[in-house]
Amino acid sequence: MGGDHDAVEVIAAKRDRRELSDDQIDWVVGAYTRGEVADEQMSALAMAILLNGMSRREIGRWTAAMIASGERMDFSSLSRPTADKHSTGGVGDKITLPLAPLVAACGVAVPQLSGRGLGHTGGTLDKLESVPGWRAALSNDELLAQLESVGAVVCAAGDGLAPADKKLYALRDVTGTVPAIPLIASSIMSKKIAEGTGALVLDVKVGTGAFMRTVDEARELATTMVALGQDAGVSTVALLTDMSTPLGLTAGNAVEVQESVDVLAGGGPADVVELTLALAREMLAAAGRDDVDPADKLADGSAMDVWRAMISAQGGDPSAPLPTARETHVVPAPSSGTITRLDALAVGLAAWRLGAGRARKEDAVQAGAGVVWHARPGDEVTEGQPLFTLHTDDADRIPRALESLEGGYEIGDAASHAPSPLVIERVG
Ligand code: URA
Repeated sequence: MGGDHDAVEVIAAKRDRRELSDDQIDWVVGAYTRGEVADEQMSALAMAILLNGMSRREIGRWTAAMIASGERMDFSSLSRPTADKHSTGGVGDKITLPLAPLVAACGVAVPQLSGRGLGHTGGTLDKLESVPGWRAALSNDELLAQLESVGAVVCAAGDGLAPADKKLYALRDVTGTVPAIPLIASSIMSKKIAEGTGALVLDVKVGTGAFMRTVDEARELATTMVALGQDAGVSTVALLTDMSTPLGLTAGNAVEVQESVDVLAGGGPADVVELTLALAREMLAAAGRDDVDPADKLADGSAMDVWRAMISAQGGDPSAPLPTARETHVVPAPSSGTITRLDALAVGLAAWRLGAGRARKEDAVQAGAGVVWHARPGDEVTEGQPLFTLHTDDADRIPRALESLEGGYEIGDAASHAPSPLVIERVG
């Protein structure tokens, strides 16, 4: 390890568009994690990386240095293969909830270490915490034991995994340096590789409700992450999927859990079922179990059995009624016609403003808050019929949520609705 670097030399190299050496990368990531490189120096370096980019070699080394900053988990003692899924985040993206038990029901263990929501995309842990009694924090031993007994775990990522990323992500959040492909790819992949999954499927979202607004950007992020995973020996593929329209018919916490349970019961919105099955098939293939058809496990109730076991194992009551919000407000359709557009960002912001998400890390979320829409693009509506129902504990939040929905949808004639595919491209 190079002990004779200094932060200014590393910052200046990236400022002047030079490639950083392996030694410089190992040193700066390690020294930042130990507190020897100051936040303002790492902010300058992150901005230089955002502006000037990194080569594949630099991204690989940066990822390895972030993994080396913490512990690595090992699932090799389990009796079945492991596969995980990561989504870059979208509105109404509750797919982890039906997917983890479904893949487990097909014989592949799913260690899904998740986060909380920040901004307009919801967090999986926030959604599950609306289930009475359910707890997100598990020790590594509890995680391993549940993976063996139930086959699926959704829990909070512990502090031991990639601590360099934890520190750097918080800094990027407040310095305008989140949307840099080398930093996003290394952030996501350092956590997934350290987690120890054997196979990984990435759901890279594209559209108004996503980090990546264009297919070209999403493809570059996906290609970078797939290469990082494969170089680390993790069987990795990515699907680019649409996030200009929100998924399903709900965005929020308890409302999304209910929709997920509907999918596990054999119903639910067609797009949620389609994406759940597409990701399940990729996870099974990546883990070497493409002999099983996940559609059968949804239909025969075995995925629902794993869901119930997974919730119970973490203290939750899968039979308890889900919490509901104190206030509801219905938005009627202003005219008759076909829904031609429903904007993911508008719906995500409305759910967030109703209390489903948080503005600062320390804020609490409301379990019952969210938006339910009663029609999707392509559906016919009649003037006056309910289009959205807003849910919140706090009526004062409704006007701001209504403002974010203004201009967020269009009703026109059927001929002007061009359906767009949900799965846009596969990278792997
Ligand atoms: N999610 C992460 O974990 N890291 C990023 O940098 C962006 C999204």
